[in-house]
Amino acid sequence: MEQPWVVVLAAGEGKRMHSRRPKVLHSLCGQPMINYILDSASALTKQILIVVGHGASLVQDTIGQQWRYVLQAQQLGTGHAVAQALHDLPEDGRLLVLCGDTPLLEGRHITELLQHHGLNAVTVATTSLPDPTGYGRIVRGENGYVIRIVEDRDTSEEEKQIREVNTGTYCFDLSLLRRFLPMLSSDNIQGEYYLTDVIALMCRDGHSVGTYEIDDYRVGLGINDRVQLAEAAALIRERINRTMMLSGVTIIDPGSTYIDYGVNIGSDTVIWPNSIIEGGTNIGSSCQIGPGAHLRAAQIKDHVAIQQSVVVESEIENGVVIGPFAYIRPGSHLGENVKIGDFVEVKNSTLGRGTKVPHLSYVGDADIADGVNLGAGVIIVNYDGKHKHRSNIDSGAFIGCNSNLIAPLSIGANAYIGAGSTINKNVPPGALALARARQVNKLELANRILKRKANGQEKKKNEEKS
Ligand code: UD1
Ligand code: CA
Repeated sequence: MEQPWVVVLAAGEGKRMHSRRPKVLHSLCGQPMINYILDSASALTKQILIVVGHGASLVQDTIGQQWRYVLQAQQLGTGHAVAQALHDLPEDGRLLVLCGDTPLLEGRHITELLQHHGLNAVTVATTSLPDPTGYGRIVRGENGYVIRIVEDRDTSEEEKQIREVNTGTYCFDLSLLRRFLPMLSSDNIQGEYYLTDVIALMCRDGHSVGTYEIDDYRVGLGINDRVQLAEAAALIRERINRTMMLSGVTIIDPGSTYIDYGVNIGSDTVIWPNSIIEGGTNIGSSCQIGPGAHLRAAQIKDHVAIQQSVVVESEIENGVVIGPFAYIRPGSHLGENVKIGDFVEVKNSTLGRGTKVPHLSYVGDADIADGVNLGAGVIIVNYDGKHKHRSNIDSGAFIGCNSNLIAPLSIGANAYIGAGSTINKNVPPGALALARARQVNKLELANRILKRKANGQEKKKNEEKS
């Protein structure tokens, strides 16, 4: 059979979101909600048109120019939206109408809708909701066939009780749709041209209206407000976690694990609770992530451990250990077996194999070679108040605790910096650098001071008594 055509409706403003952002661009697990339905549709056909209107250019810029768009300059309703696309569609064949705000519908549901369609004039994907408020109700005649769809705001008391609703997903016979679409009127509470009214028109004219009922009602839900947005996100998260687990990732507590769409994780990696893994992140195998890891666009190889730490736009090689309480900022590259300990911040820096920054340090704009050790509290002073400068530490160097390295600076291989130094000149390879005041020991002075203090206190007490 010929590939069906698809029209995705995405021109509405989404008033109930109370947002400046067009509804279909609101993010679900790291990507705009409309991308989900586009993914499902493109698995089936290449003939896809997207109807845009409210925030059209923002929608197009965000989801990309690889799609074909149709403009609905004024949003006069779903029927009007489909009518704008007719010009770009063939005379006949099958047309799927999908909504940009029903992201949970999967490819298999669309395929099943097509299978149910057969020779119908229209087949509506329906589902039965525990609380159908807000949705168009499926009104069936005595023989059980659909006779019309009534919008929530136009329902009678009796119709409000109907729990079977329209999911906003349909398959139409295009030539019949062309005949009935121009007959729509906007004579309803919202003053809009409802696509749903086509169903009654077709039925009255003796055409067959079919339904395909989706058994898991959650899948058919449209997103109209932020409550539904959060509910949909929870479902998508469940799907992502499930796919991960079935492919060999251990997730200790799926309920507190937030993995975005498009993240890849290798087998035998364990994700501990309260971890957030955002889009663009790739994690290798046999890693220990979390508890409390927050990763964004991070490239992480194998056997890496990250505990209670944040890693953003950085590359982490095999065997690296990070945290707890470390912050790896954009542009960082941590070589194999690097160790980053507690309260360490690394920014836009490269660290070579086996280098250790175990405690309380700031490493900014530095290139550090292999096997370097930064003692506790080492600070790279990369900013002079106006400009950022880079510094360079060669392999095997040892930087004593609480040293300040004032960039731009170059420290040679195997150099040794005495603890507490403030270094502002380059250190040659193999040199010992000390930049701190020399210690003086004044013999017996502490004892004398203590004695004087004790005498003073004794005198005060005696005075108070007398
Ligand atoms: C629609 C259906 C309702 C169904 C529900 C399922 C109609 C009249 N009603 O209602 O029966 O139960 O979906 O979620 O169709 N859009 C345009 N141009 C417009 C208006 C809307 O492109 O002029 C787009 C929106 O961006 C959205 C979709 O069409 O993606 C549905 O519009 P929306 O306003 O959300 O319709 P509902 O009230 O949810
Ligand atoms: Ca909707």
